[in-house]
Amino acid sequence: MKLTIIIVLPILIVATGIAFAVPNMNKTTEVSMDKKVLIAYFSWGGNTKSIAEKIHAQAGGDMFSIEPVTSYPQDYNTTAYGIAKEQHEKNIHPPVNNTDISGYDIIFVGTPAWWYEMAPAVKTFLENNNFEGKTIVPFITHGGGGKYTIAEDMGKLAKGTKVLKPLVIYGRGNDQTDKEITEWLKQIK
Ligand SMILES: Cc1cc2nc3c(=O)[nH]c(=O)nc-3n(C[C@H](O)[C@H](O)[C@H](O)COP(=O)(O)O)c2cc1C
Repeated sequence: MKLTIIIVLPILIVATGIAFAVPNMNKTTEVSMDKKVLIAYFSWGGNTKSIAEKIHAQAGGDMFSIEPVTSYPQDYNTTAYGIAKEQHEKNIHPPVNNTDISGYDIIFVGTPAWWYEMAPAVKTFLENNNFEGKTIVPFITHGGGGKYTIAEDMGKLAKGTKVLKPLVIYGRGNDQTDKEITEWLKQIK
């Protein structure tokens, strides 16, 4: 009997430990449960979309792809050095699709760096909606130039909002990106 207890008890303890440990292994960072989350992003080449999906995997919420009414051509030069450059130089905010953001408390806003600033479609999205009392959490992908003043500019376009620290990712990120997102999400209370 004593021998059975000596052998079985440690097995039970270990097994119970595993049973409780396994669900925690898959636990993702959860943004406060009482807050409604929207992840809105513009992505032309897929990098920002890919980061939006990574954020979604950890923070949950709804996703919204900001799309200009007139979409950009697939050709890089036509888009980058033609339309996007002209929109940047003339500060054009092109018409975009929309969604009702009134029910959300925390809105992640993702953009690629386009000509040293946020993409024009994101400017329109910020202007078109009432962000008062909401929190914007910016995420930016870039090709080497970094974050510029994109987060500050978001605050100027979306009046009455609190803008948190941006996540800044080169291209599509790397094998550290998920960890970086986990740390970045901790700023959200
Ligand atoms: C029109 C255009 C302008 C860009 N301007 C910049 C820039 O000023 N600075 C920078 O670092 N990267 C710039 N890039 C690179 C993009 O920011 C980068 O590749 C980004 O991850 C693309 O995101 P996407 O794949 O979601 O569209 C530019 C790319 C394009 C197409």
